Amino acid sequence: MTDFCFDIKPLFPEAIIKVSSDLLPQNFSGKRFMCADVTLKMAEVIDRMGQLSATAQDLINPVTTAQRLEKSDNQTVYLMADGKEGANGVVVGLLKVGTKDLYLYDETGQVHKVQRAPAVLDFYVHESRQRCGLGKELFEAMLAEEKWTPSKLSVDRPSQKLILFMARHYGLVRTIPQANHFVLYEGYFHGVSPSMPLLQATKSVPAILAAGSERQRTSAMTFHVGEANYRKRRLQDPQQQSCSTTDLLSSRCNSDCSMAEIIQGSRARGTNASHAADGQISRTNVRHT
Ligand code: ACO
Repeated sequence: MTDFCFDIKPLFPEAIIKVSSDLLPQNFSGKRFMCADVTLKMAEVIDRMGQLSATAQDLINPVTTAQRLEKSDNQTVYLMADGKEGANGVVVGLLKVGTKDLYLYDETGQVHKVQRAPAVLDFYVHESRQRCGLGKELFEAMLAEEKWTPSKLSVDRPSQKLILFMARHYGLVRTIPQANHFVLYEGYFHGVSPSMPLLQATKSVPAILAAGSERQRTSAMTFHVGEANYRKRRLQDPQQQSCSTTDLLSSRCNSDCSMAEIIQGSRARGTNASHAADGQISRTNVRHT
């Protein structure tokens, strides 16, 4: 459990709080002189939870830090606490979301520039509390607050557990292959009219993905300056790097692999990965956001 040397309860007027770049809980009503103390403590909470999340995902660097949140104007961190545990209470979960300008493929292979695409960027529930429904509670609170629906989210290189989470709670399994590390689920483009397609699907999906890869590199430079390499995973034993989504969904795969890697694996084999359930996973793919 994540406890701190200070009482966390004043930071959590409710079990789930929303924190933006000012590092104060939303609707913070304390006096001005209290703000400095609250932001310092909030920074410590965010940094610690971000580090635990990185460790759980085997990331080289944390995705979520107080400094990064402070500098962003389009990211939000949701934190969940249990004020009844211990004298000071404990923090049990973190969910970071934001919006990204992305080049994304629809089901037909056309590329769209989607501005301010809702994205799940980091998600963590303390190991001692996982699979008790807290992740769902936190996720639902975020959806209600942001007024987002699960099938309209892009997910930044989901872990095995998050893939299972999305399937379990939202029935989201089938993905739309992308050239980047974001995973979209079928239905993402239903009922919306994003930008005019930038590229017509006159080639095979692997060829389109290759073209998109180039485009995405450009967009990454345009839209994600200062965030390069922050989601790199540690490379693991290549002997343990391969499993299928079918394995994931039946919890038979022990290696930590992502849907993006499944898609990447499909690209490597030059197959159509429109239904990623058959894709193989390449662990050589590391995240560059
Ligand atoms: N093994 C298999 N499935 C799991 C596991 C696990 N250890 N943990 C969660 N799940 C999935 C399953 O579908 C599970 O349903 P089931 O128990 O009926 O099989 C479901 O999630 C449980 O739902 P909740 O209890 O609501 O979720 P939880 O509180 O466990 O939070 C979370 C889910 C945040 C993914 C958590 O497991 C976690 O912190 N994992 C480690 C960090 C991680 O992988 N984060 C996602 C990184 S990718 C990103 O952030 C974009």
